[in-house]
Amino acid sequence: MLNWDEPAHPRLTAGQAPAPAPKPAPQPALGVVAAEPPAEIPEAVLQDAAVTPATVKVRETEGGATGLEALTMGADRITVDDKQMINCRADLNQLVPFKYQWAWQKYLDACANHWMPQEINMSADIALWKSPNGLTEDERLIIKRNLGFFSTADSLVANNLVLAVYRHITNPECRQYLLRQAFEEALHTHAYQYVVESLGLDEAEVFNMYREVPAVHDKAAWSLKYTQSLGDPRFHTGTPENDQRMLRDLVAFYVIFEGIFFYVGFTQILSMGRRNKMTGTAEQFQYILRDESMHMNFGIDVINQIKVENPHLWTEQLQEEAVRMIHEAVELEYRYAVDTMPRGVLGLNAAMFNDYLRYIANRRCIQVGLPQQFRGVSNPFPWMSEMIDLKKEKNFFETRVTEYQTGGTLSWD
Ligand SMILES: [Fe+2]
Ligand SMILES: [Fe+2]
Repeated sequence: MLNWDEPAHPRLTAGQAPAPAPKPAPQPALGVVAAEPPAEIPEAVLQDAAVTPATVKVRETEGGATGLEALTMGADRITVDDKQMINCRADLNQLVPFKYQWAWQKYLDACANHWMPQEINMSADIALWKSPNGLTEDERLIIKRNLGFFSTADSLVANNLVLAVYRHITNPECRQYLLRQAFEEALHTHAYQYVVESLGLDEAEVFNMYREVPAVHDKAAWSLKYTQSLGDPRFHTGTPENDQRMLRDLVAFYVIFEGIFFYVGFTQILSMGRRNKMTGTAEQFQYILRDESMHMNFGIDVINQIKVENPHLWTEQLQEEAVRMIHEAVELEYRYAVDTMPRGVLGLNAAMFNDYLRYIANRRCIQVGLPQQFRGVSNPFPWMSEMIDLKKEKNFFETRVTEYQTGGTLSWD
């Protein structure tokens, strides 16, 4: 117990410095064995260190650094030329110098778009959902199915990032964005949980839909095999075959899962918002769509950068496989449209989605340098493009700010 009357230091006279307290001998923390004092480093080793390249020691069978390697005193400083997207052997704990300025910019833009689900007013949604004639059965089905799909889909994406992709992306500025993306995926899952709780839905029904509703299950099951392949702890990049596995997973998650599988749901929920129904839920989805669009663009930039640095990987065979994956995805997403919308509703019908998904798939193909797959398709939902670029869009939901900026700038005046 402290004695408040007793000063910690004997009273000093002006200008008198306190006598330094004797230094206690360092004690090891409880349960920690004291380390041996470091041995003297022989001169020959010091000379070697002066010419050590800026790379870390990685086993032959392991393609790139992880960031967990031992440090080498006196190693050369890292330059931009030492950095690469995969199989980089330079230390990954140094953010700068930047090689991929675009990745850092996306990280900054993502932080400037910060939002939290509980900031969005859900009271109109709660009143409408609870009112017996507020919504048709078809409209209720759309809300429930999309909460069912997205609530587990965003966890799947987050797990793919953290347990599969992150380890093999050997660039610190891209990892910085991945960490931000992983948090945003957590926010998205939070948003769906928040809507489920606000509306008083049966959470077991919603969160088990990916095991109980075939159209939801099939999309999740399709993508799982790609993350399982990459998440295998014995998997390392560094051979052409394994580097192609990495590219395949990036196509599956960034181009297809976040770039195709989300778009029926986004369009349905945002159509509801445009008709002034479930505006809180629609606003949550609008923020999520903005985040997802940035995730997808980041992933496409990563894929294209890997192709530039490793042109031998993007073989005709891999391109054919990517095209096949995109066709499978369009088919699965169309089935999802039919399942969630057995009849026309909200001015939408399944046939319109047939066009829209082909239009989106063509765009995704162009973005990763593949030939367009579908002829004569046009975009039946041009308003969706405006939704993605929220900054330019006036707030037609008339709820709250659309251009969210965090109050991160301190004023010292
Ligand atoms: Fe997400
Ligand atoms: Fe995402």
